[in-house]
Amino acid sequence: MKNRPKQYRVISDSEVEKYAEDHSTAESEVVTNLIQSSDEELAHVDMLSRPLVGHLLQILVQTTGAKNCLEIGTFTGYSAIKMAEVIPEYGQIDTIEMNIRYQKIAQNNFYKFGFDDRIQLIKGNAREEITKLNKVYDFIYLDADKLYYQHYYKYCIPILKSGGILLVDNVLWGAQVLAPKDPKSSTLDAFNKHIKGDNRVNQLLLPIRDGCTIVRKK
Ligand SMILES: C[S@@+](CC[C@H](N)C(=O)[O-])C[C@H]1O[C@@H](n2cnc3c(N)ncnc32)[C@H](O)[C@@H]1O
Repeated sequence: MKNRPKQYRVISDSEVEKYAEDHSTAESEVVTNLIQSSDEELAHVDMLSRPLVGHLLQILVQTTGAKNCLEIGTFTGYSAIKMAEVIPEYGQIDTIEMNIRYQKIAQNNFYKFGFDDRIQLIKGNAREEITKLNKVYDFIYLDADKLYYQHYYKYCIPILKSGGILLVDNVLWGAQVLAPKDPKSSTLDAFNKHIKGDNRVNQLLLPIRDGCTIVRKK
């Protein structure tokens, strides 16, 4: 979490988190390899969603029977592959990434690990790409630039099917949202309040990892 303010507060106890990870389904060999290669290649960047959020993604995709999923923020492909592992064979993941280096790594991972037929990488700025999508999704994972979460939300809800799930990561921003002192914390706090006031959805803000909100469209 190297891009956080110095006063970043760890929300969960690391031993509790480790215990929770140890007592959840283990990562597949493919995903373990991807995590290792991402950590080696991008040692200075800590952006992978990591196991608890990855497993939450999989459980939600599985239990809702989602076939068509959208991800905003691919990075090296960890969460896209987590979803692709559990969708039906005729399902598809569309994932948007603007960083050229990450696009190359993710595309290579999708090919190397045999998911290139099920994952479509949309290369470009998600703020614009999201406005061009004319498909209905069963599940959406939002994990990109935090300052634009409200923008993404505005475009995500109309393309999410009724009963579909939007999972949003980093909504507690190291607990900074409790007393926002910087633009990201203020934006995320306003975003959380916006969802709370939206009567088109039900929501559950879970204090795992950096905070994940499960939003269900009515
Ligand atoms: C936290 S990482 C995503 C991690 C990924 N979901 C995972 O779990 O492996 C956020 C990603 O969003 C990308 N991103 C940020 N702003 C973006 C934008 N406007 N359009 C497309 N991608 C963006 C970043 O380059 C980064 O790769």
